[in-house]
This record gives sequence, structure tokens and C-alpha cells, in this order.
Amino acid sequence: MSTSHAKPVFSMDAATEITVRRAEVEDAAILTETCRRAFDSDLEVGAPGPGGPPGYDSVDWNSHRITNRYLQYYKILKGGDIVGGFIVGDRGPGYQVCERIWVNPAYMRKGIGEKAFQLIWERYSSVDLWALGTPEWNLRTNPFYRKLGFVQIGTTHEYSQWSGNYYERRISHEFPRAMSRIEGLHKDLVSVVVEGQVRSLSSPRTVSSRKTGEQLKLVDAVLTDDTASIKLVLWNDQIRQVSDKSSIRIENGYVKEFGSELQLGISKWGLVITLL
Ligand SMILES: CC(C)(COP(=O)(O)OP(=O)(O)OC[C@H]1O[C@@H](n2cnc3c(N)ncnc32)[C@H](O)[C@@H]1OP(=O)(O)O)[C@@H](O)C(=O)NCCC(=O)NCCS
Repeated sequence: MSTSHAKPVFSMDAATEITVRRAEVEDAAILTETCRRAFDSDLEVGAPGPGGPPGYDSVDWNSHRITNRYLQYYKILKGGDIVGGFIVGDRGPGYQVCERIWVNPAYMRKGIGEKAFQLIWERYSSVDLWALGTPEWNLRTNPFYRKLGFVQIGTTHEYSQWSGNYYERRISHEFPRAMSRIEGLHKDLVSVVVEGQVRSLSSPRTVSSRKTGEQLKLVDAVLTDDTASIKLVLWNDQIRQVSDKSSIRIENGYVKEFGSELQLGISKWGLVITLL
């Protein structure tokens, strides 16, 4: 399913000569180099150690993202030069995520990141909700996103060393098209975005994977909103990301039926956000 709302043309701001244009595989090497430099400079803004997000210094990773049908990968140009990148992901109808943005350090703090967002927003004019996550320690991105009008709605706990801050920018104040209420969930639904309160968590138990024989940890929870409740099944690393009585949003969930019971799971590309 592609829910892209992107217009097929490139976007340019004449005064600043900033353009965003869809990236091509031939751009992967230079995009990777700008990305590597940008994230390596995180050491100056609070990073606990060297490195960056997955694949940030890999030409292969970037080439695959450029051709991935669920992502729209853009190059940011100044004049004719690639000075950064912007990866947009689809989360559902009218719901886009900034998966990654970066600007080559030589061009930082000149308004290019801000302009790139404006150009992207112009292209995605029918979107009603934008979201993104960034590390809590990042002294540069947190003020950057707040300046752009993003509001922090929660925290994420994908990595055990540090938490992430999750931001969104609502364009429309209607209930987002991409979100479900629990009573509307049904068998075989995928790409589910849903919010609710965690009402109970079982003790962890261990089961063997039918496919690989691997030992897996499993916890059952109940997720409730003002319409209904559903069993939420948490596996392995997902378990430590959810606490009892917290309000959470699940992105990229799926619904399965076991016997006559509906169960909500979180896919391996999914995300749990603990709402503030
Ligand atoms: C985050 C990033 C894309 C911002 O791009 P940029 O072109 O340098 O940002 P802009 O010049 O448009 O800055 C806009 C505003 O963001 C804030 N900001 C940007 N850099 C900042 C910094 N180092 N410290 C504090 N605030 C900062 C400021 O409010 C700034 O406005 P101002 O200059 O008028 O004060 C860039 O710093 C970057 O590539 N960082 C490394 C990669 C990264 O962390 N990407 C995001 C996670 S996916």
C-alpha cells in the first residue's frame, strides 16, 4: 500500500536556491557522505558516543532506501550541489513521518533545514499529520523541530541507552484519518495506528518459535480507549517499552484473530510511543 501524497515535481525556493528533488541511486554515494558527516557532528551536540542512526554511513543502506516503495527519499540541493537529504515515510492516509533529515555540516545553521521542511510541506499539501522522533540528548534537533512548529507528544524507548522524544505537527485538528479507535479494529488489519491506556501486563513467559525453535519472551497486556479494549501482545524488546497504566500510541501495529479473540501486535517496523 502506498499512501504517498507527494507531487511529482521538484520544489525550489528562488531566493535561497534551495531545491528538494527525488534522489536517484546515482546520488547514493554523495548523500551517504553528507549524512555521515552530519551525524558524526552529533558528538558536538550531546551524543553519548560516535556513530549515527542505522545505515547512516552505508551507501548500500541509502541506495536501498532510495528505491524503497514505502519511502520517498529526497536530496536537498543548494544551487546544483547536494547539501543534504530528507527521507519521508508513509504511516497511513494523510500521515507522513520525517524518517531522517540532515544537512552537510559546512552548510548548517544557514536556514537550509528549515527551508527543506517548508518545501516538503508544500509538496505534501493534503497531509494532516506529520511526526518524527529524535534523541532526547540532541541539543540541536530538539530546538530545530520546536522552531518548525513540532510539539512533543511522547517518548520512545527503542534503545536501552537513551530515550527518544517523539514530536508531531498537526495540520488538521480533526481525528487523524490514519488513526483507528479500538472498536474499529478487525482481523487482518495492518499498518494500524492506535492510542490507548495500558490496563494490565502479565508476567513474562517464554515460548519457542515454531519456525526457528528460538526462545521468545512474551507478555500479554490490555489496551483500552474510550470505545473498547483489545489484547496487546508484546514480544522480546517490546516488553521493556511498555509500562502498566501508561498511555501509549502504537504505530505499525497489526491485528490477528486467535480462536475468537482479536489480538493487537506490533510489527518489527513498529513503534511504541509513551504519550506525555
Ligand atoms: C538538524 C539539522 C537538519 C538542521 O539543519 P540546519 O540547516 O542546520 O538548520 P537551520 O539552519 O534551518 O536551523 C533552523 C533553526 O533550528 C535551530 N537550530 C539549528 N541548529 C541548532 C543548533 N546547533 N543549536 C540550537 N538550535 C539549532 C535554531 O532554532 C535555528 O534557527 P536560528 O538559526 O534562526 O536560531 C542539521 O543540524 C543536521 O543535519 N544535524 C545532524 C543530523 C540530524 O541530527 N538530523 C536529524 C535527525 S534525523
